[in-house]
Amino acid sequence: MRVISGRVWYRGRLDPLSVGIDEDGKIAAVRKTLRADESIDHGDALILPGAVDLHVHMREPGLTHKEDFASGTRSAAIGGVTTIAEMPNTVPPVTTADALDGKASALKGRGAVDYALYAAPRSGEAVVRLRKATAFKAYMAPSTGDLQVRPPELESILRESETNRKLVVVHAEDPAKFRARKVVSLADHAEARPKEAETSALALLARVRGNARIHVAHVTSREGLDSLPSGASCEASPLHLFLDTSRTLGTQGKVNPPLRSPADREALWDAFRNGRIDAVASDHAPHTLEEKEAAFDEAPAGAPGVATSFPLLMRRSRAGDLDLGRVVAAMASRPAEILGVPKGAIEVGRDADLIAVDPRRVDTIRAKRLRYKCGWTPFEGMEGCFPTAVYLRGEAVIEDGEPAAEGRGRLLAPST
Ligand code: NCD
Ligand code: ZN
Repeated sequence: MRVISGRVWYRGRLDPLSVGIDEDGKIAAVRKTLRADESIDHGDALILPGAVDLHVHMREPGLTHKEDFASGTRSAAIGGVTTIAEMPNTVPPVTTADALDGKASALKGRGAVDYALYAAPRSGEAVVRLRKATAFKAYMAPSTGDLQVRPPELESILRESETNRKLVVVHAEDPAKFRARKVVSLADHAEARPKEAETSALALLARVRGNARIHVAHVTSREGLDSLPSGASCEASPLHLFLDTSRTLGTQGKVNPPLRSPADREALWDAFRNGRIDAVASDHAPHTLEEKEAAFDEAPAGAPGVATSFPLLMRRSRAGDLDLGRVVAAMASRPAEILGVPKGAIEVGRDADLIAVDPRRVDTIRAKRLRYKCGWTPFEGMEGCFPTAVYLRGEAVIEDGEPAAEGRGRLLAPST
C-alpha cells in the first residue's frame, strides 16, 4: 500500500496521520501508523482534500487560443484543484448530444485532473438528450457564448431536470434590470449590470424552481445571498471575494457578473467567513491580453483564476482571517457533495485526491508560475500559499510545486 503522511485534515481537525491508498487510487485507511510499500512523509505540512472547482471555462474545443484543456488543467493542479466542472460555452456550444460527445472525445486523455462536463440545454426536451452531462448550466443573461435562455425555456429546463434529478447551475442576472450607459470603467460596468439584476433574477428563479436542484453561480452581494431560493446552494468567486471596483485593473477586471464596491466585497467576505456561502469556485474564464486590450465596452468579460483560489484562501487562513474548516468545506467537501462525486474529503472509500501545503511558505502571485496560456492574472502581486505536492487518485500530479504528470484526468460519470 502507498502511504502519504503529514498533518491530515480528518474528521474536522488536523492530526499527525497516515493516509493509505489502494491500487484503485482510493483511500483505504487513515491511521496513526500504517505499514507501507511506498511512503511519502510530508512532515508537518498539512494534508487536505484536493479542491473541486465547480466553475471553469477551459476553452476547448474552439477557443484554444485563450486556453486549452491540457494547459488549463495543468494550472488547476498547480493551484491544488484535482476536480473541475467544465462550462459549456465552448465552440460548438454544448447544447446537443453530438457537441457533448465531441467535447468528451476531444478532451479524453488530455486533462491533468479529473473533470465533469456541463451541458447547456436550450429547452426541456434537450435536457433528456443531454442526460450524459454531469449537470446543466442555465444563463439568465447574455455573457460570453450567447447561451441566454428566456424565462419560459428556463422553466421547462427546470421541470425536466427535476424529473431527472439533475443539478442546474444558474448564472443569475436579470437583463431587464441592466442599464444602458457608457461603460469605460469597472464602476460603470457594475452600474450597467447592477446588484438589482442579481436579486431580480433570484426572485424570478425562486418563483419557477419547483423542486429542481439548483446551484447559484458567482453570487456577488449580500443582497444576492438574502434572495437565494430556499434550499439552493451557491458559490462565490475569489474575483468578488478579493477584488472590487477600487482596483486599477481596467478590462482585466471586467467580468460577469461585475466586480462590486469595496463595501459589497467586504460584506460578501463576512458572509463567506460566517458560512453563508457553500462553495468557492473560480469562474476561470481566460481571454488573451490582446482581446482584453479592446475598448472597455468591447472587451470580453472574464478572467482566469483556477490556480489562485486555494492559495488565496489558504493565505487568509494562515493570517487568522478564515477558519481552515471553511477553506476545506468551500473548496472541497461542499462542491464535491453538490456535484455528487466521491471526492472532497479524506475518508475511507473516497478518491485519494490530496494536497500537501505548508502555510508558512507564502509566495507572491506571479502569472508566470500559474502557467495559464493567456499569461496574466488579475491577482498579480497578491499573496498565496501554493501546494508543494498534489495527488490525483494517489499519484503525484504536482511535486515540489511543479507539474509531475499529465493526461491522467478522467471524465466523471453523471450521478443520475
Ligand atoms: C465567461 C466567459 O468568458 O466564458 N465570462 C465571465 O465574465 N464570467 C462567461 C460567463 O460565464 O459569464
Ligand atoms: Zn462562468
